[in-house]
Amino acid sequence: MFISIDGGDGTGKSGQIAFLKKRFEERGQKVAVFRDPGDTALGETIRSILLNREDLAICPTSETALFMASRAQLIREKIVPALESGATVIADRYLLSTVVYQGYAANRDVSAIWRVGRFFADDVLPDLTFVLDCPIEVAFQRLNRPKDRIESRGALYRQKVRDGFLQAVADWPQVAPGRAFIVDASRSPEETSRVILKRLAENGVVL
Ligand code: TYD
Repeated sequence: MFISIDGGDGTGKSGQIAFLKKRFEERGQKVAVFRDPGDTALGETIRSILLNREDLAICPTSETALFMASRAQLIREKIVPALESGATVIADRYLLSTVVYQGYAANRDVSAIWRVGRFFADDVLPDLTFVLDCPIEVAFQRLNRPKDRIESRGALYRQKVRDGFLQAVADWPQVAPGRAFIVDASRSPEETSRVILKRLAENGVVL
């Protein structure tokens, strides 16, 4: 089982992922969590370029390609071996983020990003995706720390990201085999976890 947790910055992904990891472990099930971009030597190098190098000019196409390259490495080095070892994989973001941040929110060709993204991913795509959703004002308040290169793009971009996720999930059946769910993340973390567990159970993952 390959699960991805996605959504805008400040929607509470990290907390939900930590919760799910613990639930799998408490039930004696193997689980591996990976963050995208990152989690390989190449991926972490690319991540620090993408998020921290304000001094570098990175055009939108290069930015898209760098996210794809980091993910390609993560898939081959970590995700596929983990799935083959029988672990449940939880990805902290995945291709859907590129489709939304570099596609919908950047007014670029979304279907091209799906197509290229699937190629870079060897068609290794999540079985289930949870998109955490909340108003951008709520999410921004929760991001109570210095913002990285992408987080500091302003309210208009953040709104486009939120709308992009909602639109992408509406379009998902045409572009990917897995199932995606929008989860209201404006309530308490416990309430959000409850909704995710319910959806997992409906899809055969009882935790
Ligand atoms: P993330 O790891 O969620 O950041 P944090 O460590 O702050 O929780 O993601 C890093 C940023 O990269 C985030 O603003 C979203 C962005 N991103 C893209 O723009 N495209 C992508 O394909 C991915 C995976 C992330």
